[in-house]
Amino acid sequence: LRVGVMISGRGSNMASILAATEAPDCPFEVVLVASNNPDAAGLAFADSKGIAIWAHDHRGMKRAEFDRLIDAALRGANVEMVALAGYMRLLSSEFVDGWKGRILNIHPSLLPKYKGLDTHARAIEAGDSEAGCSVHVVTPELDDGPVVAQARVPILPGDTPETLAERVLKEEHRLYPAALAKCAADVIRSRKSA
Ligand code: GRF
Repeated sequence: LRVGVMISGRGSNMASILAATEAPDCPFEVVLVASNNPDAAGLAFADSKGIAIWAHDHRGMKRAEFDRLIDAALRGANVEMVALAGYMRLLSSEFVDGWKGRILNIHPSLLPKYKGLDTHARAIEAGDSEAGCSVHVVTPELDDGPVVAQARVPILPGDTPETLAERVLKEEHRLYPAALAKCAADVIRSRKSA
């Protein structure tokens, strides 16, 4: 299945998705890495791996207008499923509707807890004993669609948002490629039986 990955920054989750495509039985390939931030470090990494990249600065553009541009780039690359990986912008409902159930996101909390930003600080502040990450289907509401996979880590005494983020990120890098592979395999299977 042809996957497009959308990033805004570092791109470590995108890199873990790329690494997964090296397995011979991986059901997806990454055909485009797209960003709203032309300076995203992840773009240079993807480029160095020979992956097509696309970037356009969203600033000064209306959300729907920018989303039409990125949508055209994804469709131009014949993308069949979109993976948001640290894509730090809300998506217009037109964009989300256009990809009906074909957009995944990774969020660094045990959804439905802690949608939005500063998830690790909020989990520590609340006195939670565990944290984690969730892969979910994207709907127009932020961090809100059906969860397809989760991983849990303990919150340890003395954890700071940074130490917890590091522990969770390791799980993100394992969880996201696995969840994407499962969803891609489901799409391929549903096509065969259609
Ligand atoms: C990750 O923690 C992800 O869960 C969140 O933003 C961060 C992106 O990191 N949505 P990276 O760009 O994948 O390294």
